[in-house]
Amino acid sequence: MTPPRIKLLIVDDSDQARENVRKLCRFDEDIQVIGEAKNGKEAVLLAKKLAPDVILMDINMPEIDGITATELISMEIPETSIIMMSVQGEQEYLRKAMMAGAREYLTKPFSGDELVNTIKRVHQLETKRRQQLQSAGPERLREGRIVTIFSAKGGVGKTTIATNLAVALATVGARVALVDLDLQFGDVALMLDLVPKRTIADLVEEAELTQEVVEDYLLGHVSGVQVLAAPQRPEQAELVSEELVQTVLAKLKKSFDYVIVDTAPSFHGTILAALDASERILLLGTLELPSFKNLKLSLETMASLQYPEEKIAVVVNRYSTDIGISLAEFEESLGTKVQGKVPSDGRVVVEAVNKGVPFVLSSPKSEITQALYELVKLVGWQAPEQQTVSKTGLFSRLMSGMRKVK
Ligand SMILES: Nc1ncnc2c1ncn2[C@@H]1O[C@H](COP(=O)(O)OP(=O)(O)OP(=O)(O)O)[C@@H](O)[C@H]1O
Ligand SMILES: [Mg+2]
Repeated sequence: MTPPRIKLLIVDDSDQARENVRKLCRFDEDIQVIGEAKNGKEAVLLAKKLAPDVILMDINMPEIDGITATELISMEIPETSIIMMSVQGEQEYLRKAMMAGAREYLTKPFSGDELVNTIKRVHQLETKRRQQLQSAGPERLREGRIVTIFSAKGGVGKTTIATNLAVALATVGARVALVDLDLQFGDVALMLDLVPKRTIADLVEEAELTQEVVEDYLLGHVSGVQVLAAPQRPEQAELVSEELVQTVLAKLKKSFDYVIVDTAPSFHGTILAALDASERILLLGTLELPSFKNLKLSLETMASLQYPEEKIAVVVNRYSTDIGISLAEFEESLGTKVQGKVPSDGRVVVEAVNKGVPFVLSSPKSEITQALYELVKLVGWQAPEQQTVSKTGLFSRLMSGMRKVK
């Protein structure tokens, strides 16, 4: 059997340069050009869609340059190898590109042999690396954390916080799955402007729920978050059993750093299955009496379920110092500390929902976004040391197309 061809994506803002690469690869049977992008932003989107083996990336491009695109792609699709293309005199940028995750570089102009040999060598190395990783065995890979956002009361902001927390985690480099367990009225997909093709209810049809099968049902958001949508019709909620939820979460935990679970306001069996499986529960409330009553009851219920105290973190949403009960009073009556506070910001939140863009991306500098990055810490995310990602994250840069190589 012949090995599959090397799938190549060409990224260059010059039409002629892309055409030239195409020509140079045309007669090589091992290489197949599967796409072309004219700038870094297109490259990131296409790379996610096409999953190329190798990307040939120009450094100097409008909107998002090759270095930023390389950073984003190597974090999100580490299986793809990136080869930088540059002209003489861009050595400093090349060094940055290699630090951003590029595997090799070619100085323009290059010959057909140079190009083809570099692509093959880089691909071969990556294949070998992957084989070694696989033979190391899955048990050596670290498992992710399940974090459930819960409140026994409706409308306190579970979905708002679940979606924005998931995206915030993705912007700092975590691999994140977001599961919508509001099985009757879930709106995670809607909030992220995604159109579900298949939902958690369709998983019932599968004979065996392997990691790959479950991953097949995920919808990719531009931030990198992978979403398992809630059923499209309320009556389909019944199809989803506790066992299904248990299995799905266990599988996702193997492939992601975080599995964020949005819930319906109830202790229904499927929600309990998620709460049981969680490493952390963000118990959400507001500084209002009905919410307080529900928080207290939820804490009592969770104590009777023998959840350890450190599993639960009370988070106050729509926090404001000038309305409702004072925080100190609230904590005292509740008998526990509030570990997270998210301010009220109707303008930012509503605008984001209407645009279908989470506010952590659309308003990266707002106070409410800063609060979400505090929740990122609360759920225990620590960036790997070699990562130098800013608080506002790579994706806000992607959205605003800021940093450019001049
Ligand atoms: N911090 C905030 N500031 C201003 N508005 C907010 C905030 N958090 C949530 N909201 C608004 O409150 C409403 C309810 O939020 P959301 O849908 O996230 O709650 P929920 O707990 O998921 O509700 P349900 O129980 O119905 O699923 C929405 O209109 C949302 O835009
Ligand atoms: Mg909700």
